[in-house]
Amino acid sequence: MPTVTNCPAYDVDLYDDEVLRNPYPHYRALRELGAAVWLPRNSLYALSRFEDVRAALRNPGLFSSAEGVAANEVVNEMSKGTTLASDAPLHDRLRAIIAAPLLPRALEDIGPRIRAEARQLVDDLVRRGRFDAVADLARHLPLTIVSKLVGLEDYGRSSMLRWASATFNVLGTMNERGCTAMKDVQEMRGYLGSVAIRERLRPGSWGQRIFDAGDRGEVEPERCPVLMRDYLGPSLDTTIFATANLILLFGQHPDQWDLVRQDPALIPNAINEALRLESPLRGFTRHLTADATIGDAVIPAGSRVLLLYASANRDERKWQDPERFDVRRRASDHLGFGNGTHMCAGLHLARLEMTALLEALVEKVARFDIGEPVRALNNVLRGLASLPVRVS
Ligand code: HEM
Repeated sequence: MPTVTNCPAYDVDLYDDEVLRNPYPHYRALRELGAAVWLPRNSLYALSRFEDVRAALRNPGLFSSAEGVAANEVVNEMSKGTTLASDAPLHDRLRAIIAAPLLPRALEDIGPRIRAEARQLVDDLVRRGRFDAVADLARHLPLTIVSKLVGLEDYGRSSMLRWASATFNVLGTMNERGCTAMKDVQEMRGYLGSVAIRERLRPGSWGQRIFDAGDRGEVEPERCPVLMRDYLGPSLDTTIFATANLILLFGQHPDQWDLVRQDPALIPNAINEALRLESPLRGFTRHLTADATIGDAVIPAGSRVLLLYASANRDERKWQDPERFDVRRRASDHLGFGNGTHMCAGLHLARLEMTALLEALVEKVARFDIGEPVRALNNVLRGLASLPVRVS
């Protein structure tokens, strides 16, 4: 077995509460230390620079997902063979099934419904004047629209949020947060894996389409409930956090909101810039299939490597003045949705939901006066549990 060479160490637990509250100084320290850094507290190698993270994402033959993408081996073992935790050719077959209704053309039909729902919501909130940007604004579309599209309308909202957050917590290390979340993940698996699930699905829904693909022999029947998790787990907190982060950033930078109000064509750019600066998904791991040379370091085959998308998105080697929120920056190649073969399958839906809300908000809101944000600590996601806002 080759020995590790030229790999500095960083003796900090990246999943500690204090780090989760403010990870950015740690990401900077990692970027400065080297292209690859050993994290002894987490038994992981970390890649934190833009070019290295993107190159790894584009090289799934070497940086494999088939052994899981979590930072702990319990969940890596449990999740093998899902869309997220597979390589080609299995990955391509599963992804083709779940991604079909998420492609831009397939979303054309639901665009007007999402925009109408966003407009109605914003009208109501502006009338109220004060609201919570997480509970009242950011959660609405993912909870109502996504549950309808998946076809599980009776699926309790509070369970859905609890399960979605747990899905990400268990993808970190098995710290206390990860262990507690395991119970919720088991509950979600039980619900989606029950024999009754198919009868609960609305005909024509995304969930139903998965089971229809099973009937046609395109996917093994036992994988169908697993594929349903691809819609429910990753579609809620990611989008909710990204939306609330946008309101936080516009509250902190009213000049940037003025720019978007003056020129709403900046909305797609503003969304990219917010995803860059406050990436909701900090990173996933990969398993090395062979020895890898990263910068000056040689990392042996079989190692687990953490790819820090959120750090790459602030890498001073790639971005000028990376800590600045600038809605005019060309930020479309950020890694907030990942990159390469596993790049987010739901990114068009997420963009559609956020765009619909901002389009409605630019017409009605001149200022977001924000109160004290409350952070939601999650092993993999970064976002808020609450953000009081007064709009004028
Ligand atoms: C702003 C919101 C979102 C963010 C920031 C986000 C982020 C990501 C990232 C970084 C990945 C890459 C995983 C990897 O590298 O291994 C990913 C994958 C994925 N996302 Fe999203 N996501 C969002 C919304 C959604 C939505 C709305 C859905 C579904 C409706 C979704 C479904 C998926 C699926 C199924 C994958 C796995 C794709 C694969 O392995 O081929 N995501 N997401």
